[in-house]
Amino acid sequence: MKQIRKVIALCMAVVLLAGSFSGQTIAEAKSSRGKVTLKVRKTNYTKRTCQLVKGQKVSVKVKISNVKGKKKVRYSSSHEKIVSVSPKGRIHAKKKGTSKIKVVVASGKKKMNSWLKIKVVNKSKSPKFDFKKKTVKLNSGYSMPLNGIGTYSLEGDKCVKSVSEALKRGVRLIDTAYMYDNEREVGKAVRESGIPREKIFVTTKLYPDQYDNPEKAINDSLKRLNIDYIDLLLLHHPGENDVKAYQAMEKAVRQGKVRSIGLSNWYIEELQEFLPQVSITPAVVQNEIHPYYQESKVINYVHSLGIVMEGWYPFGGRGYTKEMLSNKTIGKIAKAHGKSVAQVILRWNLQKGVVVIPGSSNPAHIQENTEIYDFQLSKKEMKQINALNRDEKHDWY
Ligand SMILES: NC(=O)c1ccc[n+]([C@@H]2O[C@H](COP(=O)([O-])OP(=O)(O)OC[C@H]3O[C@@H](n4cnc5c(N)ncnc54)[C@H](OP(=O)(O)O)[C@@H]3O)[C@@H](O)[C@H]2O)c1
Repeated sequence: MKQIRKVIALCMAVVLLAGSFSGQTIAEAKSSRGKVTLKVRKTNYTKRTCQLVKGQKVSVKVKISNVKGKKKVRYSSSHEKIVSVSPKGRIHAKKKGTSKIKVVVASGKKKMNSWLKIKVVNKSKSPKFDFKKKTVKLNSGYSMPLNGIGTYSLEGDKCVKSVSEALKRGVRLIDTAYMYDNEREVGKAVRESGIPREKIFVTTKLYPDQYDNPEKAINDSLKRLNIDYIDLLLLHHPGENDVKAYQAMEKAVRQGKVRSIGLSNWYIEELQEFLPQVSITPAVVQNEIHPYYQESKVINYVHSLGIVMEGWYPFGGRGYTKEMLSNKTIGKIAKAHGKSVAQVILRWNLQKGVVVIPGSSNPAHIQENTEIYDFQLSKKEMKQINALNRDEKHDWY
């Protein structure tokens, strides 16, 4: 069931309408808990593909509206060896390749054909961290640095100075958000750094109170940042109109205003619900992750979709950092490597496949937070830190 849910989260169905019910037919793809639902609606069609992993089985459920009388539904596959479909609409992904599932809805003499294109892959590719280049390739094709600076609570000149210090010290990933009220300052530090724009990766986020008018929100962020384009745009957390906002981000990608898009504070259930409703798979999911809130299941799930995981509050967040940075277990590991506890926490994240964005306005800390590539934690040390998990969430967002 879990596997099926994973796959369903990736599924985006297609459907094409045909003649006789025109004006009132066609399908919209939806999915929930192991079923792909084709809901018959108005004219028009969408070109979406449902991706399944070899061996997966999912059910197709056809929902029809505006068609009176008794209805019969038949299924067939264009390539039975790749994908087979039972009379009840049970799809079995058998072999790598592409096949079409034809769904025929008949009512009396009238017939409607719908197509569901299915791509079968052997396995979703987990993102690979390149520790030499200190980057990871996103599913959007762009590379993202593995370590950055977070700017939450850094305002005004303090923000400009912190980001400038980080850029001087080789940091190339900067995390901001509309809600932090410092996009102008981040943009200023980037422009004044003298570093070519394409060498810097700036993330910002839309807040739920902007989801109702996302085009304006995106244009406003672009104006405030004033750095030509946004490298990564995230939805800050789930909220009303989040699909509408994401679709506006997809449009912004096509327009060249934004390079990659993603989500923040989305967990397994939310992703399963959300992904079938959008076209572009998020490049990144950014959630709270630290030794006391490790979220291993979410990390594995996100990776299985080929999405990069990024963690916020690596040191537990303000108000909690003192306790976390004096953890004895991590302290011992740090001592053994001649590193600080902060560096060990960041390295543990990287070895788990999590991009880090520690927040700091202290140049010495900013420097320290970059020196995380000259040592490696052993399996035993990773396990010791993994054992510190308390499922202790420090903030909702
Ligand atoms: N998407 C979301 O919902 C969400 C939510 C929260 C945060 N975020 C992002 O995640 C970023 C990180 O979170 P955060 O900044 O709030 O918390 P954090 O990174 O867990 O902790 C920041 C605190 O750690 C201290 N610190 C940093 N480096 C240190 C070092 N090497 N040694 C000792 N102390 C050190 C900082 O103090 P100094 O300034 O003195 O170094 C600061 O007080 C944010 O800035 C933001 O960009 C995203």
